[in-house]
Amino acid sequence: VKGKAEGARGLRFTPVPPNTTDAVTVPEGYRHNVVIRWGEPILRGAPAFDPEKQTAKAQAGQFGYNCDFLALLPLRGERGRRLLVANHEYTDEILMFRGYDPDHPTREQVEIAWAAHGLSAVVVEEDRRTGKLTPVPRHPLNRRVTATTEFELTGPAAGSELVRTSADPSGTRVLGTLNNCSGGTTPWGTTLHGEENFNQYFAHGSRDTDKRYGIGTGATERKWERFDQRFDLAREPNEVHRFGYVVEFDPYDPASTPRKHTALGRFKHEAATVRLTHDGRPVVYSGDDERFDYFYKFVSSKRMRHGTSRRAREHNLTLLDEGTLYVARLTGDSPAIEIDGSGRLPEDGEFDGSGEWIPLATATADGAVSHVAGMTAEEVFVFTRLAGDKVGATKMDRPEDIEPNPATGKVYVSLTNNSSRGTGAGPKADEANPRNANKHGHVLELTERRNRPESTRFAWSLFLVAGDPEDPATYFAGFPKDSVSPVSCPDNLAFDAHGNLWISTDGSALGSHDGLFGVATSGPRRGELKQFLTVPAGAETCGPVVQDRRVLVAVQHPGEVDGATVENPASTWPDGPGRIVRPAVVAVWRADGRDIGV
Ligand code: FEO
Ligand code: CA
Ligand code: CA
Ligand code: CA
Repeated sequence: VKGKAEGARGLRFTPVPPNTTDAVTVPEGYRHNVVIRWGEPILRGAPAFDPEKQTAKAQAGQFGYNCDFLALLPLRGERGRRLLVANHEYTDEILMFRGYDPDHPTREQVEIAWAAHGLSAVVVEEDRRTGKLTPVPRHPLNRRVTATTEFELTGPAAGSELVRTSADPSGTRVLGTLNNCSGGTTPWGTTLHGEENFNQYFAHGSRDTDKRYGIGTGATERKWERFDQRFDLAREPNEVHRFGYVVEFDPYDPASTPRKHTALGRFKHEAATVRLTHDGRPVVYSGDDERFDYFYKFVSSKRMRHGTSRRAREHNLTLLDEGTLYVARLTGDSPAIEIDGSGRLPEDGEFDGSGEWIPLATATADGAVSHVAGMTAEEVFVFTRLAGDKVGATKMDRPEDIEPNPATGKVYVSLTNNSSRGTGAGPKADEANPRNANKHGHVLELTERRNRPESTRFAWSLFLVAGDPEDPATYFAGFPKDSVSPVSCPDNLAFDAHGNLWISTDGSALGSHDGLFGVATSGPRRGELKQFLTVPAGAETCGPVVQDRRVLVAVQHPGEVDGATVENPASTWPDGPGRIVRPAVVAVWRADGRDIGV
């Protein structure tokens, strides 16, 4: 990579070289601060963080663990302040508790973990001169949602027999949200949060549907089923059918009950990003992050109402309850070939083709209709993976985030990796997933027919085939590869105001730490990928938000390295030697106060 600050507008910074420094590394001329860490008190009455004396009660008023998706929302009437919403995907007990015994977790440890999951809303104050952000503790909008907060299950599968339990015979009241990974911000002022690897919390699965969702037959690693029987499928078989949804949260109403939307289907939701049709109906894209799984979209039949009146807000909270859920099927337009060491392209010179959105079920005010033979509508919404199997959806290399480009309408799908492709019984490389043993992942660019979000047909091509640019099997939208940054395992996506795509990575297989990259999607520099930052040892980069003068990222699971413990840490970020490693949110800005990358 050439160390030059040239580039497309918004990407004019000196790229950060690949490295393994136990720190957040930003480009020359940029500064950063830690906005908020795991355990910082945000609610009234919450104590200062003390890792040696942590309690569940304290944690319930403090920022949660393993921050992932981030939204930075406007806050009217409070100058210089914004509302930060963060996901807390999961807990790393071995890095949270000194002397943790994985075979015998205590009730207190388990309840701390419940309270460290979920979401945080916290008001933050902007520095006048820089992009620095600091939390405002005890603000009335600050809120924690955890693994025990009450949720309303809404949409076509709510109340069905599949989701009734002994604690909730109505099938509409669920306690908690788990494994919130990426998400999205709606145009009506709420946030969406994907429940991803919910399978890991449930013990003793036995049904075919459990197996398809990766639920193990034995005890779980965290042993929560010892402390609450709802995590034991042998005792409460339907509880697991109440996780794996897209959650909608209203951060402006701290008394609101968050919702789980069954109309968007049940799978390992990685993100939920919204755009509107020309007549104002929301369309939500979501990936199912599993090797050989699918990506989906939901098209609402209801129009968004503008304004902040109570009636408008109440109406908008029902937008995601009625509409049609689709799954993607992709067809290549050339004989499929595997890109291997030779870096061959298909005969027409591009990995590209056409696709269709196959309808799975439609929810209306009067009930729901299945479009899948042999499955009821309720089954489609609860066992959505099986519906995708039946209609022959395209098996992808771990569909992660999906993000429409607000400037062009093209939609980007990150496919993190799939080391199993072409090995064993799984499918082999095809034009949309062109590498067997795909270690580094790729990014797909999708164009809805006539650029209409609700179209049922689309065109697609590969935008990026990740890896070391010296590897002939990589592709950077045709940009010369001698001046791009190496990249591996694309995960979360975001757009800046210039239409550049920002990509954060999870699990780089190139020997460098994970990081954040920016790349132009149009113009002469399309495909020129540049690394903006790297994160500490063991961490994944998540939740990027790129605004005019600020980049925000979540540093998730720092120090998560095989064999690492509290006593034997792999990272001492962010507080230094002798202090416990803490997942945290970081803001980056330019020292001269100008906008990012201009
Ligand atoms: Fe939680 Fe698919 O990353
Ligand atoms: Ca082709
Ligand atoms: Ca992710
Ligand atoms: Ca991930």
